[in-house]
Amino acid sequence: MNKRDRIILTGDRPTGPLHIGHYVGSLRNRVLLQNEGAYKRMFVFIADAQALTDNFENPEKVRQNIIEVALDYFSAGLDPDKVTIYIQSQIPELAELTFYYMNLVTVARLQRNPTVKAEIAMRGFSKEEGDEQTFGSGLPVGFFTYPISQAADITAFKATTVPTGADQKPMIEQAVEIVRAFNRIYGGNVLVEPEILLPDKAACMRLPGIDGKSKMSKSLGNCIYLSESADTMRKKVMSMYTDPLHINISDPGHVEGNAVFTYLDAFCRTEHFGRYWPDFLNLDELKAGYERGGIGDVKVKKFLEKILNEELEPIRARRKEYEKDIPAVYDLLKKGSVAAREVAAATLDDVKKAMKIDYFEDRELIEEQARRFSE
Ligand code: TRP
Repeated sequence: MNKRDRIILTGDRPTGPLHIGHYVGSLRNRVLLQNEGAYKRMFVFIADAQALTDNFENPEKVRQNIIEVALDYFSAGLDPDKVTIYIQSQIPELAELTFYYMNLVTVARLQRNPTVKAEIAMRGFSKEEGDEQTFGSGLPVGFFTYPISQAADITAFKATTVPTGADQKPMIEQAVEIVRAFNRIYGGNVLVEPEILLPDKAACMRLPGIDGKSKMSKSLGNCIYLSESADTMRKKVMSMYTDPLHINISDPGHVEGNAVFTYLDAFCRTEHFGRYWPDFLNLDELKAGYERGGIGDVKVKKFLEKILNEELEPIRARRKEYEKDIPAVYDLLKKGSVAAREVAAATLDDVKKAMKIDYFEDRELIEEQARRFSE
């Protein structure tokens, strides 16, 4: 499709401030897309209703993190004049769409969703005797069905393009299936099939935590946040996991599984060498040198720190500005939510028409029934 016809949409759960894994996995990409301008419309939203599916006992956590995520968005460079930025729960049409889409999805299909499976395994929702291994009967229905609500998030805006991490692939596939089922059953090609837009580098898809072990995640305490100070960030970078076999500087080092190098893969550009480490021409040369031996971890970490600061410093500065007027930030979200709601309402009208539940708009139906009862 023509890039200018794209409707780009994505969102984040407000369960904590955004970290640099979110940034390289999606946020940086969104700002680039926004600045390229090659799209018809772009939507970015805070998925609070989805966050509540597994935090329903803790609405305060979600409430507190709305502003964190909003500040992260605006500081990273999302521009409310170019992108519609809104809060999911303020669009009630999404709940209505979800309700109708529920008819189009089986329990078996949801149980096959790898993301839901993994999340359930992680959270260990309560199980009762005789329950299947993963899906205990103590599993809240809202959580189990959130892929359906995510399909509503996407289709309500007729999104064509969803820039997000690889972990969201099963969600997009689910949405595509719902679109196909809807259009097949109700006709009219009302809904649009979305496509995922993944980051182009592997390192950006699954940035490890500073412990090097797994994906960066708040619950594991291994994050570098967009909003943290240069000082905190430096301490975290200096404590990063590298290569346990690289004990003496002269020892050959390994770059595979070495978090410092994974971060460099995600953030380093050739011009950084000219600025901060002219001994090397590019990252491949630095890696080769590290593998030969003779390059200390502290030196590589200091290089990484400079590169991170170059990217994060403007974000920190913008954040300071936005923090000065928090009511204005809520106001931007409110304006975005009003604008988004208009679009979702138009789609819901199309959906109800296709499903023939638009009784009061359907003149023909009313006349037909009038004739039937007058005969
Ligand atoms: N599931 C996404 C996450 O956990 C958030 C999300 C909700 C989303 N609805 C979406 C992302 C629609 C893209 C499109 O980060």
